[in-house]
Amino acid sequence: MPKPIQMYRLVRSLLFLFDAEAAHHLALAALNFSSRLPFIPVLLRTFFMPRPGSKPIELFGLSFPHRVGLAAGFDKNAQYIDALANLGFAFIEIGAVTPLPQKGNPKPRLFRLKKDHALINRMGFNNKGLKNTIKNLKTKNSRIIIGANIGKNTDTPNEQANEDYILLFKQLHDYVDYFTVNVSCPNIKNLKELQDKDSLLSLLSELKIINTQKTKPKPILLKISPDLTWEQLDDTLSIIQATQIDGIVAVNTTATRQNLTYSTKQINQFGNGGLSGAPLKDRATEVIRYIAQKTNGRLPIIGVGGIQSKEDAQEKLEAGASLIQLFTGLVYEGPGLVKKLSTVQIANPKKKI
Ligand SMILES: Cc1cc2nc3c(=O)[nH]c(=O)nc-3n(C[C@H](O)[C@H](O)[C@H](O)COP(=O)(O)O)c2cc1C
Repeated sequence: MPKPIQMYRLVRSLLFLFDAEAAHHLALAALNFSSRLPFIPVLLRTFFMPRPGSKPIELFGLSFPHRVGLAAGFDKNAQYIDALANLGFAFIEIGAVTPLPQKGNPKPRLFRLKKDHALINRMGFNNKGLKNTIKNLKTKNSRIIIGANIGKNTDTPNEQANEDYILLFKQLHDYVDYFTVNVSCPNIKNLKELQDKDSLLSLLSELKIINTQKTKPKPILLKISPDLTWEQLDDTLSIIQATQIDGIVAVNTTATRQNLTYSTKQINQFGNGGLSGAPLKDRATEVIRYIAQKTNGRLPIIGVGGIQSKEDAQEKLEAGASLIQLFTGLVYEGPGLVKKLSTVQIANPKKKI
């Protein structure tokens, strides 16, 4: 019997014949279609679902069956939750969702850097908007843990950004298990300015106040850029402490172009966008380790960036992450990666949440 990774190599060679974004949609459509056929969901779960571990991971009031989740951007519209749940994730972060639908940047806007197991994307928060997302969340059957990655519309000026985030937060509150505030996407003009001290404090304080007024408050996490300086990261951590939000997702894609084997000319041809995958791995781990040390391991961290093997997952958990997320690793290694990584143990669990 071939292993899932061997079978995926065949699928991958077919998918890689297509443009990267088309291949993404094709793969999801095929998964969705097959998940509606008799017996296929059972078969998928037999292949991909990790065996239940000894103990669930309790974090910010949620109980995760294991530590491996799907990163934001993969299922932007919460359209494929039931199908993706068959692949064994412990949780799925949908979005980024914006209040109104928006097309995002012109295509092509997603590129494979195969030699480096990396991607460059400048999608630009393409999504079908809040209403459509709620409709999809209402009709899903799976009870998998769902996070909502929320962002502002590109046309919303930064001065009015809080209103976008508040609207999304209020309207999605009944339908998701946690929120990730995304102010770190490199593909939305001036978005990263919302990571500045005053803006961030105002946004997180407002969300926190609304949350505490709810009968069942939901965990609020902040997703940060790997391109923050240490000083900016210190400021961010002090705001997280001041507002008492629940955790951090480290990291988003990077605007830098380090650790690539392509020539400068080739890299420039891809144009602007966020780099993900293997070249991001070390920086992501470094940021996670810094946060864990600065907060004495008390702030829950979801580690994301360049995880493509058991060793990569181990490295993130040992640096201080309690959960991990995958995106680019799924493109190169396939869905079998989830089960493979779900068995990774933290070497020194006493120090971790
Ligand atoms: C095509 C694409 C779209 C993405 N969209 C989002 C998004 O909407 N919101 C977000 O917070 N991160 C988004 N990300 C970033 C991922 O969630 C993740 O943080 C990043 O890719 C690093 O993880 P990886 O190296 O495993 O891919 C996107 C990444 C890619 C490749």
